[in-house]
Amino acid sequence: MSKLGLADIEVAGKRVLVRVDFNVPLQDGRITDETRITAAIPTLLDLVNRNAKIILLTHLGRPIVGSASDRETFSTAPIALTISRKLGKHIAHVNDCIGEDVHTAVESLDDGEILLLENVRFYAEETENDPEFSQQLASIADVYVNDAFGTAHRAHASTEGVTKYLSHCVAGLLMAREIHYLSMSLENPAHPYVAILGGAKISDKITLIENLLGKVDSLLIGGGMAYTFLAAMGVSIGNSLVDTEKLDVATSLMKKKGFAEKVLLPADHVIGRSFDPETESQIVDKVAISEGWQGLDIGPKTVAAFGERIATAKTLVWNGPLGVYEFKKFAEGTIAVAKQIAASDCISIIGGGDCVAAIQQAGVAGRITHISTGGGASLEFLEGKQLPGITALTDK
Ligand code: 3PG
Ligand code: MG
Repeated sequence: MSKLGLADIEVAGKRVLVRVDFNVPLQDGRITDETRITAAIPTLLDLVNRNAKIILLTHLGRPIVGSASDRETFSTAPIALTISRKLGKHIAHVNDCIGEDVHTAVESLDDGEILLLENVRFYAEETENDPEFSQQLASIADVYVNDAFGTAHRAHASTEGVTKYLSHCVAGLLMAREIHYLSMSLENPAHPYVAILGGAKISDKITLIENLLGKVDSLLIGGGMAYTFLAAMGVSIGNSLVDTEKLDVATSLMKKKGFAEKVLLPADHVIGRSFDPETESQIVDKVAISEGWQGLDIGPKTVAAFGERIATAKTLVWNGPLGVYEFKKFAEGTIAVAKQIAASDCISIIGGGDCVAAIQQAGVAGRITHISTGGGASLEFLEGKQLPGITALTDK
């Protein structure tokens, strides 16, 4: 990695501002998935063991600035309790992320103690990347650590602006791990290199397809976006999801070098009458779909064809589910592929929230090399873009 990391800096007795991505899903005030908190624990433990004064900063959701009810809904207070339970250690919480109360709370921190600040998005200045606000954030710290890979694609005050006011800005352990695996998949992947792309819309994946076509040996496409390609090829797709405005884009992608040899599209489908978990469903053993039906999952023939490529892969990247895996009737393709990846000896890198849920549903998370904590961030990384939260860190 070309950026400074945790091991490159002295932290004992220093005030270390750690930007984490604890933007976790909430339901009725409860955290329903702690993955992002768990993923930052190694960085926190390292800093505790090295006697740093640790100040944690995160956003949570997209609160309306100034809304009293959102201040309650999106408070980081429950997260302090979760970290506390995971570390077996008291975590202090303060009701703001800048200002006098924060300075007082920071001053009272002993070496090895942790303070969690309030949601940084309670200020519009955060997403505006306001210089003065960034400076205020920086004023409570000696050193800055960014472990928020999931937010690295945002040029916000707490991810980018703040780095202009601190001399040492380093990657946390999670950030370094994300950069390691994702850049390996772009720069020196072992071959055969297989990418699997799914998800509803082709518009989200155009740049990714363009970037990956030049690198991979096989590109397996499923999910809603596959129907736009099939429609552009002139295949009848019934009432399946189609990005009508992107048919031209699909056509031009199909003309790109490598597309014909590398891309596998669904050859059969699980179809349903409507987009509904209980809808009448059946498997069609052909690529065309009749009127009155829509494709909602890849069929068994496609699963087998994808499986052949997955079994021999040395490097594999997966982004986006291959069917409507939230509906039991249409989850089989995605789950089967998750199991094939787990059974393969490849270096497997999974990005995007939906795939992660599918991997967990399949019970194979432990057999995946790297499950990214970033959805949008991992997508942009794999598209070949520079992420502002990474670029802003201090060079080695
Ligand atoms: C995410 O979950 O996508 C990241 O935490 C970034 O959040 P955002 O999409 O609201 O900027
Ligand atoms: Mg997002």
